[in-house]
This record gives sequence, C-alpha cells and structure tokens, in this order.
Amino acid sequence: MSLVPYALARPFLFSLDPETAHELTLHALARIQGTPLQLAYCAGRVDDPVTLAGLAFPNRVGLAAGLDKNARCIDGLGAMGFGFVEVGTVTPLAQPGNPKPRMFRLPKAQALINRFGFNNEGLDAFIANVKRSSLYRQRQNTAKGKAPPMLLGLNIGKNAATPIERATDDYLACLDGVYPYADYVTINISSPNTKNLRALQSDEALDSLLGAIAHRREALATQHGKRTPIFVKIAPDLDVAQVDVIAATLKRHSMDGVIATNTTLNRDAVEGLAHAEEAGGLSGAPVLAMSNRVITQLRAALGQGFPIIGVGGILSADDAVSKIRAGADVVQIYTGLIYKGPALVKQAAALIKKTF
Ligand code: FNR
Repeated sequence: MSLVPYALARPFLFSLDPETAHELTLHALARIQGTPLQLAYCAGRVDDPVTLAGLAFPNRVGLAAGLDKNARCIDGLGAMGFGFVEVGTVTPLAQPGNPKPRMFRLPKAQALINRFGFNNEGLDAFIANVKRSSLYRQRQNTAKGKAPPMLLGLNIGKNAATPIERATDDYLACLDGVYPYADYVTINISSPNTKNLRALQSDEALDSLLGAIAHRREALATQHGKRTPIFVKIAPDLDVAQVDVIAATLKRHSMDGVIATNTTLNRDAVEGLAHAEEAGGLSGAPVLAMSNRVITQLRAALGQGFPIIGVGGILSADDAVSKIRAGADVVQIYTGLIYKGPALVKQAAALIKKTF
C-alpha cells in the first residue's frame, strides 16, 4: 500500500539540488523505517521466488548499489518491495569523495550523471549500520526456520588514496569485514569515478584480483562455516573481446555471478542536453540498450546457469522484462527509482512474474 503518490513528491524533490534531494530522502527513510509512517510509501513484496547462486531470492527485482552507500536505510528501502537490496560501495576507510556538485539530472533523457567517487563513512561504520538493521536480526533467526524477507548484497571497493597496484589489499580488507553479514558480496571494479578502477577489468589485473579473492574466500568459508556468493560488477563500456575475457576469467576463478552493468562514460544518447558534458557515469534510460547488449553477450559466453544480475536503464516494467529477455536472471534498479518512484519496484516484479 502506498499512501503518498510519488507524482506529488517528485516536483518538490526535483526542485532541490540533486544531492540535497538524495540526502533528504535518505535521511527521511532512515527516520521512518520500521515505524508506521513507512506505510506512506511501502508496497507488498511480489512473491516470485527464484534460486540463484544457491540463494533464495523472494522476487527478481533488487536495488542497485550506490543509493545507500553507508547501509543506513536497509529496512526502509526493503519496504519498497525489493527482493534484494545492495548497499555500498564501501571502502576500507572513510573518504569524502569528489568535490560538489557531483550529481546532475538530465530529465529529458530520464538520466543522471554522477561522479561521487565512493563518498562513504568506511567499513566499520558500514558494518555497524548493517548490524543495526532489523533485516540483520531477522537473518539471525533464519537458523530457527524463518526465512528473511529479502536478501542483502554488500558492495565493496577501494579507497581513492590506495595506489591501484595495492587495490587487492583494499578489496580483501573489505571482503574480510563484510563476509559474515552478506547474503552476497559484490566486487565493484567498474565505477568510472575512482582513478584507474576500471583498469581492474582488464586481463592480467582481473586475473590477479579474482585469484586473490577466490583464495581468501576459501579461508573465510572455513572460518565462518558458510559460503557467501561473490558477484563481480562490470561496466557497459567494454568491447566484445573484453567481455569474452571477463567471462572466461569469472569462470576460471569460480565467481558466483556477474552484475552488468555500472554507469557509462558514453554520451551519444544525451548529446546537446544540459549537463551532458559533466564528467562522471551516466545512468538511466540511455544505458538500457548498452547494458542489455553486454548481458546478451555475457549469456552467450557464460552459458545457461551462470547467474547474471542485469542493471542499467530500467525505467518501466517492460524495461525490466527486456533485461530478463536479454539473458539476466534477476534485475536491479537505481535511476528508475528517482524518476518513477517506488511503485516501479512492484510493477517490474509483477510483470516479470507474469511474463516468465
Ligand atoms: C551509482 N552506481 C553505483 N554502483 C556501484 O556499484 N557502487 C556505487 O557506489 C554506485 N554509486 C552510484 C551513484 C549514483 C548517483 C548512481 C546513479 C549510480 C551505479 C548503479 O548501481 C547502476 O549500476 C547504474 O546506475 C545503472 O543502473 P540505473 O541507475 O540505470 O538503474
């Protein structure tokens, strides 16, 4: 049930600077999550269970990383009806990110450009927030036979100040920290806003990073008595040969899934629009076709059965269906939530359920 149509809230939010609107919304969500006020926007969760990477997803629509970088609103976001919520990207140490302004709306294109640069409060604060969520407490009860209402993904990255040659140290530090609290962990190597991060997607660098992560995962599985799936998040700006190399490397290191895609550096679809020349990653409608192309190629390279989480440009329920058609098993949304509001979550989950 939703008492406040997003159509009423959006003009107010869009009258504010984008980052201010973002902070205000998150602050409000953090305050009202778990209280009766949550009824103002909450929606029933579509029941459409699917098992992927050994995880039982309650439905096939999730929240993409970056909206809740510090894991402050896990419960509030979950109440929008997502089958899974991914929070982060978190880095080992707190960092301020890039100077403001660093987020821009392109309403004619139903798009955003951001260059936040992993602004976040660091790993310790992130984990403390996860542990404070009622989802975490519900997960503790899973052993007693109660399934948690949704899954939680924890997305990890590197600090800007860490030289790229030492990136693996940051990923391993984050993996150690988040491993026991995550349903799955996402290795984010595709943000365009941290210098050289995307270079980690290329042949030797990717091989070496995923080799180290796979090795550490074995130790963590033994230590914690559970095997947490690890997904790798990639960019849409990859050519056919690069996608093939990534697919082979994911398989070689027994990664559990791939999240495709992050934001794009390409501006073809928004040429001439205000803010189109701002530096950063473009998200929203213009990314749909690019992301779907990468998903289709990944599916061909990885074969059936390898989990693909499709993200990029879902602004309608039909867009979400197009991603499953392209080869994704489940999907995630970020920018669509800003333009269409929480109702999109239920609409997308319901149409996916009806179609497949
Ligand atoms: C993002 N995205 C993102 N991804 C990630 O892995 N870590 C992050 O910290 C962020 N931060 C972030 C901030 C903002 C403002 C946006 C718009 C996006 C990328 C996001 O998760 C997603 O992959 C892309 O935005 C494409 O999906 P949408 O937005 O078109 O649905």
